[in-house]
Amino acid sequence: MSAPNKSYDPVEVEALKPEEIARMRDAAFAAFAAAGDLEALREAKVAHTGDRSPLALANREIGALPPHAKADAGKRVGGARGEVNRALKARQEELEAERDARVLVEEAVDVTLPHDRTPAGARHPLTTLMERIADVFTAMGYEVAEGPEVEAEWFNFDALNFPPDHPARAMQDTFFVQGAKTADTSSAAGKEDSGVVLRTHTSPVQIRAMLDRELPVYVICPGRTFRTDELDATHTPVFHQVELLAVDEGLTMADLKGTLDHMVQALFGEGMSTRLRPNFFPFTEPSAEMDMQCYVCRGESVGNPDRPCRTCGSEGWIELGGCGMVNPRVLTACGVDPEKYSGFAFGFGIERMLMFRHNVEDMRDMVEGDVRFTRPFGMEI
Ligand code: FA5
Repeated sequence: MSAPNKSYDPVEVEALKPEEIARMRDAAFAAFAAAGDLEALREAKVAHTGDRSPLALANREIGALPPHAKADAGKRVGGARGEVNRALKARQEELEAERDARVLVEEAVDVTLPHDRTPAGARHPLTTLMERIADVFTAMGYEVAEGPEVEAEWFNFDALNFPPDHPARAMQDTFFVQGAKTADTSSAAGKEDSGVVLRTHTSPVQIRAMLDRELPVYVICPGRTFRTDELDATHTPVFHQVELLAVDEGLTMADLKGTLDHMVQALFGEGMSTRLRPNFFPFTEPSAEMDMQCYVCRGESVGNPDRPCRTCGSEGWIELGGCGMVNPRVLTACGVDPEKYSGFAFGFGIERMLMFRHNVEDMRDMVEGDVRFTRPFGMEI
């Protein structure tokens, strides 16, 4: 800084000349405009508004001026510094807005993109339905029982009172896997060596349950079954059944009927009921075909052309499967005294139930493994 000088004329101090102050101000404006980002602007700010900037140095010269010249020079330098600061602020805001807009574009997240390259699958509705049925019965004290899918013939047929060469064996078109190794089925090993089939129904699990468990027996057996049926809209060679067996003292058809009614009410809603129609199965006597009331029209479509029902074909009833009192010959084959114990059993197809419960029109949709079929059923566990 120069020393005070009474004869000093501010217009003659180079740094305080109006054109020189204007040049410093314009140089600052140009530097701010040229700054392409906030970092460059920070450097321009130091250069044009910092302690060593031309305007700051010019400001210091004012102190050396004679008093009468100070006000004029101060106004000139202060005005220029104010303009520079305003220009700096404006450019700063401009560059911040540009940065924010750029960040929004560059760091944008497309929330519609698939978030997971290995999407969670969906449970097959057959599995869910079988578990739901098993839940109804485990809540009543039944145990879940399982048996082999590749089954010995004695369990699949003989013990269930299908006589050898009886047409009833052909009734359930069988996949035969291996011939019998022995005709003597009196021992446990002989029973297992009686020939091998893919089980045609879940009823052999009844036999294994009676042989393996203490009486009384209350079991529910969901599982996969096989028949030489062509795959079409209403048949598949691999399908699922749920079997129920109760063996205890004093069981009657009334217990069977009450159990069936409870099941359809638990699965299809309050007030549902079942009906039994006479039928034949070698392993139950008497045997019946069981129907449940149509849960959609509840019978109101019968004889009422104004209110047709697609689910039951306006019949009012939907066929569920077979049932009956366990044949005493089956109890005897399993070492259970038919004089003391009686039992009831039923079995039905899960694919058929899924069809009418969810309006699935073609059974082939269930076996093709397309997630577009399974996904709408959700992840119910
Ligand atoms: C039986 O399999 C008996 N074991 C049921 C039974 C158990 C009766 C206990 C008495 C006591 P049936 O052959 O009718 O019965 O088959 C039962 C159900 O399996 C049928 O109602 C049907 O829903 C289903 N089913 C049979 N064949 C097929 C198939 N190819 N595709 C899909 N479902 C089938």
